Amino acid sequence: MFTSDCLGNDNGMLTIGGIRVDDLVKEYSTPLYVLDEDTVRNNIRNFKKSLDENYEKGMVLYASKALNCLELCRIANDEGIGLDCVSAGEIYTALTAGFPAERIYFHGNNKTEDELEYAIDNNIGVIIVDNYYELDAIEEIAKQKKKTVKVMFRIKPGIDAHTHDFIRTGQIDSKFGFALENGEAYNAVKSTLDKENLKLIGLHCHIGSQIFDDQPFMEAARVMMKFYKQIKDEFSIELDQLNLGGGFAIKYLETDEHIGYDTYMKEVATIINDFCKENALKVPMILIEPGRSVVGAAGITLYKCGSIKEIKNIRNYVAIDGGMGDNPRYALYESDYEVLIANKLNEKADYKATVAGKCCESGDLIQENVVMPKPEKGDIVAVLSTGAYNYSMASNYNRIPRPAMVMVKDKKSRVIIKRETFEDLVRNDI
Ligand SMILES: Cc1ncc(COP(=O)(O)O)c(C=O)c1O
Repeated sequence: MFTSDCLGNDNGMLTIGGIRVDDLVKEYSTPLYVLDEDTVRNNIRNFKKSLDENYEKGMVLYASKALNCLELCRIANDEGIGLDCVSAGEIYTALTAGFPAERIYFHGNNKTEDELEYAIDNNIGVIIVDNYYELDAIEEIAKQKKKTVKVMFRIKPGIDAHTHDFIRTGQIDSKFGFALENGEAYNAVKSTLDKENLKLIGLHCHIGSQIFDDQPFMEAARVMMKFYKQIKDEFSIELDQLNLGGGFAIKYLETDEHIGYDTYMKEVATIINDFCKENALKVPMILIEPGRSVVGAAGITLYKCGSIKEIKNIRNYVAIDGGMGDNPRYALYESDYEVLIANKLNEKADYKATVAGKCCESGDLIQENVVMPKPEKGDIVAVLSTGAYNYSMASNYNRIPRPAMVMVKDKKSRVIIKRETFEDLVRNDI
């Protein structure tokens, strides 16, 4: 019935991690992000297990852009995985949480010189170089600081993953990475080999996000391995690592068909292991960067229902006490979500609603055409699978404080991100 195993139904009331959501609302108010710790940890463990089963050496890097905060960095550290960070702010958060610098991989298509310097000063494990500007900047900074920086290149493998235009990244028309087709990637590798302060340890690709189909992942692995062989043939070096990125889809809707990450991992591993055997290449250490698939389905957001506007023959607007400020994904790319009246799970769903936020934007919607039991003011509205790219994309638009985030585990809850206050809103105003 639900998109995630951590959810349940206690006499018509939604539960998460075994806790009734009305109890959470009573204790913490709304809007409220709720995350189930066991689901997050199990997802990490399953990815780790798949890597261990399929490769001699592998590492999971949690793509922290999905949800970066001190507690998530602590959990990632506790589970012994690495971290994909995409800004100095994400790195700062990780380091503040005590995350080991050497297990951080620094991404981004336009890292500023300040960010690169910050990363190099803090001995961040690997910088994933996106373009020539960065390559020069890293070399310059490394030289000045008399350091050797480990780098990988982000490659566009020329794969068109079937997902939303805004989250497709593997094709040549993308702002991310070096293209293979026009020789950019080849020249980047060639020009780095004699650079004293840079150590090229591998290549990276990430073809997009929320990808259900296994074929694009398999094709990307084939393309990347061919490039590994070309590098070996022409420069006589075998790169140590291959980072295949993230992008594994999660269930936003009950009807979403999911192939299972295990299947994907096996299929890709067969391609890589067979290719290496046939071409007498050593199998590189394989890295993956799941973000959404670690935290997405572990999270829900709870709201209270406020005004209801029934516009005859047009639609019914059901307004909640949050919106695009805490979840901009429908406004950005019309993302699907299951929306439930959390306190009426056993009531008949026969009311068609557009769930609207409270921001001054007509586009501030959470979902359209939701069929739910007839809502009333004060009902608890739950939006499912909001663990990824919700808090991390949140804003203070309309000067609305960002909600708190609560972690549930063993039928207990604890705040991991405090609710913002009005004082927080004016903190930097002068
Ligand atoms: C380089 C890179 N790795 C990993 C991810 C995580 O993707 P997902 O959350 O879909 O797993 C992203 C997402 O944008 C990315 O850009």
